[in-house]
Amino acid sequence: MIDVALVPAELPENHQLADQAVLVIDVLRATSTIVTALAAGATSVVPVSDPAEARKLAEALGDGIVMAGERGGLPLPGFDLGNSPLEYTSEKVQGKVVVLSTTNGTVALQRVQTAEKVGTAAFLNAAAAADWAVQALNEGLRLLLVCAGTVRRFSWEDTCLAGLLTCLIQERQEGVTCSDGAVAAVRLWKGFNDANEVFMLSRHGKRLKELGFGADLTYCARTSVINAVPELHNARLMFAERIS
Ligand code: MLT
Repeated sequence: MIDVALVPAELPENHQLADQAVLVIDVLRATSTIVTALAAGATSVVPVSDPAEARKLAEALGDGIVMAGERGGLPLPGFDLGNSPLEYTSEKVQGKVVVLSTTNGTVALQRVQTAEKVGTAAFLNAAAAADWAVQALNEGLRLLLVCAGTVRRFSWEDTCLAGLLTCLIQERQEGVTCSDGAVAAVRLWKGFNDANEVFMLSRHGKRLKELGFGADLTYCARTSVINAVPELHNARLMFAERIS
């Protein structure tokens, strides 16, 4: 069964996540940034909800830390990087631990930490995320796709990716059933040709463009170009194949 939480308010209580595999989706831009940072060679990304917590953790971890994040889409004062995936080059993050605090994405990640398995999905790693999900279903886990949304509200782009992932999972595995949320996500996604079209209608996409992050939209719309899934272990996101 594929279930989709269309907004974070639909998330079950922590104790109900124990037998679930959860894929967190915040296409613009947290989960696009996370997968990009790891692809650029960051050793891990630590998602934290609060900037003060990020500062404390960075202090405790010492050298080799990159403090990153945004509020209102803009970089946080005193932090090394914002939340534009294009900033995450290997020069900046290779071999480093990125401590990341964002408005919606990292908050959603913190809320699902008790799930059996937690991964992150973006258009960038859609095919790999679908493979990850199929493997989880084959392990007997229930699958929940969590749309991080925009400040607790419904987000067009996160729901469209949940729809694309549902389609890709169904192509890979026969007989998977869908919740009403998953069916709605598929119907929404099927109204588009690609992620660029999705972003043109998205409230947060329009806001990012106004803030001068139009290039982020073009980048985040690239689909299935990173063949790996960030997975949460001991509160850190790492590519599954790097976890020993
Ligand atoms: C978030 O987590 O709210 C976002 O990724 C916001 C953004 O930087 O676009």
